[in-house]
Amino acid sequence: MKAKTAYSLHSPFVFDLYTRCINHSKSFEAFHSIEKLRSSLLHNPQLIEVTDLGAGSRKNKQDFRKVNAIARHSMSSRKVSELLFRLVDYFQPQHILELGTSLGINTLYLAKAQPSAQVTTMEGCPNIASIARKNFKSQQVESIQLMEGNIDKTLPYFLDNASKLDFVFLDANHREAPTIRYFEQCLAKSHEDSVFILDDIYWSQGMQRAWEQIQKHPQVMLTIDLFRVGLVFFRNKQPKQHFKLRF
Ligand SMILES: C[S@@+](CC[C@H](N)C(=O)[O-])C[C@H]1O[C@@H](n2cnc3c(N)ncnc32)[C@H](O)[C@@H]1O
Repeated sequence: MKAKTAYSLHSPFVFDLYTRCINHSKSFEAFHSIEKLRSSLLHNPQLIEVTDLGAGSRKNKQDFRKVNAIARHSMSSRKVSELLFRLVDYFQPQHILELGTSLGINTLYLAKAQPSAQVTTMEGCPNIASIARKNFKSQQVESIQLMEGNIDKTLPYFLDNASKLDFVFLDANHREAPTIRYFEQCLAKSHEDSVFILDDIYWSQGMQRAWEQIQKHPQVMLTIDLFRVGLVFFRNKQPKQHFKLRF
């Protein structure tokens, strides 16, 4: 209700980003095959054992879940997936990290938007990771490195060996403390032009508190709240600003 439109934007950076990327409906060729895959996952009744290292699905607490239920409850909407693609196409990052692969739909959007980029994605459930790997193969995408294991361990190991992070999509453990901790760990490899995206910022009170704390972080200069996702920038030549925009 409080979200603003392009007409109220006085920041040229945000105006351009909003009109040419966020609020744009441009369709790309790559969308079709990934959406075909999403649809097949939504119809896949295969039962798999799930290792849940995060806050878990609110709808499905048991250890065995059908692939179609995982697809329904843990994948972001097509609208968010397409936004991720457009953001990568707009900013052209070379070092992309995703926390929380699930079945790999958004990983494919990130990788197909910038085929020359190095895309690393992290997933804790071995059976889900195995389906994601098959999906990357079926889509003939070879630029993705999937790190399997608890992000509490895989992230510090990855960061020790990473040169920098241009684009980070945080969509794993939807709890307040891990969200802030992963954000701060990734900050060490960020730079002035890095973009961090947080999914589900209003999913719970804990996620909302994490989002508010991240907005207040001294290194964070600009945030854009699109309600479902939050965008974070570190552009230190501008005064600190927060926007809520209609998406
Ligand atoms: C919301 S889903 C990710 C959705 C995916 N990014 C997409 O939109 O298609 C979160 C995933 O993070 C994984 N996860 C949660 N906490 C984790 C942790 N501590 N370590 C590794 N993986 C974790 C879960 O197994 C789940 O598959």
